Amino acid sequence: MSKNELTRIKKEARDQIIQVKNIKELDELKIKYLGKKGILTQLLRGLKDVAQEERAQVGKTLNEMKEEIGSLVKDKEAKIQEVAIGAKLKEESIDITLPGKPLGLGKLHIITQVMEEIKDIFIKMGFAVAEGPEVETDYYNFEALNMEQEHPARDMWSTLYIDSKNNTLLRTHTSPVQIRVMEKESPPVRIIVPGKVYRHDLDISHAPMFHQVEGLWVDKEVTFSDLKGTLSIFLKQIFASDVGIRFRPSFFPFTEPSAEVDISCVICKGKGCRVCKGTGWIEILGAGMVNPRVLKNVGYNPEEVIGYAFGMGVERIAMLKCGIDDIRLFFENDLRFLKQF
Ligand code: DAH
Repeated sequence: MSKNELTRIKKEARDQIIQVKNIKELDELKIKYLGKKGILTQLLRGLKDVAQEERAQVGKTLNEMKEEIGSLVKDKEAKIQEVAIGAKLKEESIDITLPGKPLGLGKLHIITQVMEEIKDIFIKMGFAVAEGPEVETDYYNFEALNMEQEHPARDMWSTLYIDSKNNTLLRTHTSPVQIRVMEKESPPVRIIVPGKVYRHDLDISHAPMFHQVEGLWVDKEVTFSDLKGTLSIFLKQIFASDVGIRFRPSFFPFTEPSAEVDISCVICKGKGCRVCKGTGWIEILGAGMVNPRVLKNVGYNPEEVIGYAFGMGVERIAMLKCGIDDIRLFFENDLRFLKQF
């Protein structure tokens, strides 16, 4: 066990430890030099064969070597761990300068928006909001509105019936809510009724489900001029302050007299185009003075109270306001369409 030999072993151990790249290799070296059967352990065991006079010196050298190699291994272990932690931190670090993922913010459907706008205008004029069921009985949808069985005016609505006896149906208009409210409340009644209605129809201007807003005012003194004034204010606010408005005589069983209300065409400003079929006018709602028979049906005395009513389609108003030419677009749920409004 020459001095040179020991120096060589020490140098070799140091070189190997320095070059090691990971814990596994380091552990192997640790075992190779310091393990139970390791080089140094064996050298120490061989001490007994060393000449007496040299033993103390060699023993001291071997112990120093053992300590030195041990501390080299320890240092290396710390270094490898440090590098590993650094790499992990780097790998997991978040680049806070990257742009965030955009949040897909939703918004109200255009029909809901227009509905809210219509409601706001009437609420400011003193109307309360009332609602009623979408599955109705024949009585409320037709009979109480002055359309008994077999009344030809029932043909104005392509009705979807629910039972085979034709007693229950999907309401074809919001007018039945007039009856429901008047049955419960005594005059004065001043309401609007927003809601869904259903008809057996489907083309570019008709959908099987659409929305209406009904209006009703019953009081001691209500005149046709009140109706005209209220609807004119409404139409000027929802379309434009310079929109033209005209009332045409018409027929509805639940009003007498009845009228259809037109606005000047919002596309061509009254000159005549495809949308208004060259007339310059567009029909926008139905209205009239509540038929005394309807008042009687709810137990009101037509000698004492009088009223007006009106009804409009929300999709139609939205289409004219936004220049939409196919009603089906509202219900296809195509976000490219809906996001525009
Ligand atoms: N209910 C009618 C319809 O759906 C619209 C209507 C017309 C309602 C005249 C009214 C009215 O209240 O007075 O076609």
